[in-house]
Amino acid sequence: MKQFDQTVLNKEIDKAQSAIAKAKNEWELNQVKSQYLGKDSYVQEQLDAIVSLPLEDKKIVGPAANQAKKTLESKLKQRASDILEEQSFAPIDITQPVEREEYGHLHPISHVLSNVYDIFTKLGFAIVDGPEIESDWYNFEALNQPPEHPARDMQDTFYLKHPERDEPDSFLPRTQTSAMQVRFMEQNEPPFKIIVPGRVFRNEDEDRTHSWSFYQIEGLVVGEGVSLSDLKGTLNHVMRGILGDETKIRLRPSFFPYTEPSVEIDAWYKGEWLEMAGAGMVHPKVLENAGIDSAKYSGFAFGIGAERIAMVKYGVSDIRYFWRPNFKYLRQF
Ligand code: DAH
Repeated sequence: MKQFDQTVLNKEIDKAQSAIAKAKNEWELNQVKSQYLGKDSYVQEQLDAIVSLPLEDKKIVGPAANQAKKTLESKLKQRASDILEEQSFAPIDITQPVEREEYGHLHPISHVLSNVYDIFTKLGFAIVDGPEIESDWYNFEALNQPPEHPARDMQDTFYLKHPERDEPDSFLPRTQTSAMQVRFMEQNEPPFKIIVPGRVFRNEDEDRTHSWSFYQIEGLVVGEGVSLSDLKGTLNHVMRGILGDETKIRLRPSFFPYTEPSVEIDAWYKGEWLEMAGAGMVHPKVLENAGIDSAKYSGFAFGIGAERIAMVKYGVSDIRYFWRPNFKYLRQF
C-alpha cells in the first residue's frame, strides 16, 4: 500500500472531480466511482490502513481520507442527478445508428385484435369497452341465466364481495363479454352495430384448449328487420377477413340462453371444419331487459375467442403459450 501523502491525496481528489464532471452517463459515472472510491483506490487504501497506524498518524490520515471520501461521494451524487436531468431533456436523435439487436413487437393476440378491429370498423361497427368486474345481473341474469340455470355451470367463476354493501356473490370478474350487451343497450337507441373486445375470466382447469382467462370479441347488432341471414353474411365476411378468402362458414344449431335461435359458427379452414364462434338472434327477453321494444327491433349477437383465432391462424397447439412469458415462443411472431 502507498504511504499517506496529503499532496497525493489532493491530486487524487482533483483527478476524481474532473472525471466526475466529464462522465456523460450513469455507466461512466460508476466507472469513475470504482476507480476513485473502489477497494483498490488510493482513498480506500488509506481508510483501510487507519486501524494499523500509530495514534498520531491516525489523527492525520483519518480525517483527511474520510473528508476526501465524503467530498467525492457528494460530487458523485450531484453528478448523477444532473445526468438524470440532462437525459430526460435530451432530444432523441432518430438518425443515430441502431445499437440494439433485438426489438419488441406486438403480442400475437394484439395482432389478432387489430386485424379484427380493421375488419369490423370497415363494416361500420363501433368498438366498445366494458368493465372487467361485472354484476351478476349483467353477466348472467339479464342474459336469461338466473342463479339456478344449468348453463351457469360452464362459466363458473370467482365471485367477489361488494366493498360497501353486504351482498356476497353479486359481483364477479366477467365470464363473457356478452355481459356488455344489456349494459350497452340500456344506454343506446337502436340501430347500432358494436363489437366489445376484452378479457374474460373463468374458474377453469387449464389444459391445451382451456385457460382461466382469455380474450373474447363480442358482437351485437340491433335494428329493424335484422335477420339470421344478416348474421350469416356478416360472419362469413369476417371469417374470410380473418382466415383468408377461401374460407367458408356453416351454421350449426346450438343453445345459448340469450339467443333464439342459437348457432355455432364453423369455418372451413385448411381442409377441416373448425368451431370459431357462438352466435344467434338476440332473445326478445334480453332486448326487453334493456328496455328495447322487441316487437319493433331484432338483432344478432356473437362471441369469438381471440386465442382461438390465433391458434388456428398461427398453428399454435396450446392456449397456455399466450399468457406465459416464454420468449422462445413469442419471438416467432
Ligand atoms: N358468451 C358465449 C361464451 O362465452 C359466446 C357467445 C355465444 C356470445 C352466443 C354471443 C352469442 O353473443 O350470441 O361462450
